[in-house]
Amino acid sequence: MYNEKAIISQWIADMYDWNETYTDDVEFALSLMGENPKRVLEIACGSGRFMIPVAKAGHHVIGLDFDEFMLDKIAAKISNEKIEWYKADVIHEEWDTGFDVVVLGANFLYNIVSDLDYEQAQELVIQKAANALNVGGYVFIDCGYTQSPEKWFNHPEPNVVWEGIDSHGNFGKMTLLDSSYDEKSRMNKFVRRFEMVLKDGSNVEQEIPSEKHFASLEQIHHWLLKAGFVIEKEYGDYHCNPISESTSRAIIWARKMKETE
Ligand SMILES: C[S@@+](CC[C@H](N)C(=O)[O-])C[C@H]1O[C@@H](n2cnc3c(N)ncnc32)[C@H](O)[C@@H]1O
Repeated sequence: MYNEKAIISQWIADMYDWNETYTDDVEFALSLMGENPKRVLEIACGSGRFMIPVAKAGHHVIGLDFDEFMLDKIAAKISNEKIEWYKADVIHEEWDTGFDVVVLGANFLYNIVSDLDYEQAQELVIQKAANALNVGGYVFIDCGYTQSPEKWFNHPEPNVVWEGIDSHGNFGKMTLLDSSYDEKSRMNKFVRRFEMVLKDGSNVEQEIPSEKHFASLEQIHHWLLKAGFVIEKEYGDYHCNPISESTSRAIIWARKMKETE
């Protein structure tokens, strides 16, 4: 689980839900899935930004996430879609099987929270996606990607990500500080600083040193191949351009070719 205080997690859930409302990735994934109803598993579904429109498009969607503040937001946004969600740590808990599509979207490969070595966790998630799929099913991977990660991540100056009052009347500000990138290990280190003034006037502050592994395209390809996938489509943006110096995503649609277990 995250290591911020619960009052901060609650604030983050509101900020994420209210600010991260883009849909271009969902529309793109829906175009790859086609119109026939599919059984879809979204890993790290959060507050349902991605999986709810997929369910509304007629697919049967199951979402897993370990953040209850995020999951708690889903029920109010749905009516009679085929959609289910469960609280689960996707690294340590089993995933259901028999899916046509597994979604590892919204930068999840980069955003995995776990106590495992980062690269091991990234490879494990791809292997678990293979295990959860029917033969012939697809994994959809979508993450921020650049051929010059040092330019993206070497940013010591503070960057305010969100600032605002949550549904409980608590004001908060989240700033990323001291971001640096090590080319050899491909690790991005930074500090997450939270400064809050709660409704009752009290202050809560927390600084959390964080690190994430920026997987290379070659690593992702290798993990996919090892897990029995064949990459059918790969793009650098939602307009189907190839990955290049000027694109900023890695969007992969890979097919499970044979039984894994
Ligand atoms: C950036 S949010 C994305 C939410 C959603 N997929 C979307 O597209 O809006 C990342 C999510 O990953 C979840 N997460 C990270 N590590 C996890 C883990 N080990 N098990 C379950 N959920 C995890 C977080 O709780 C968070 O909701």
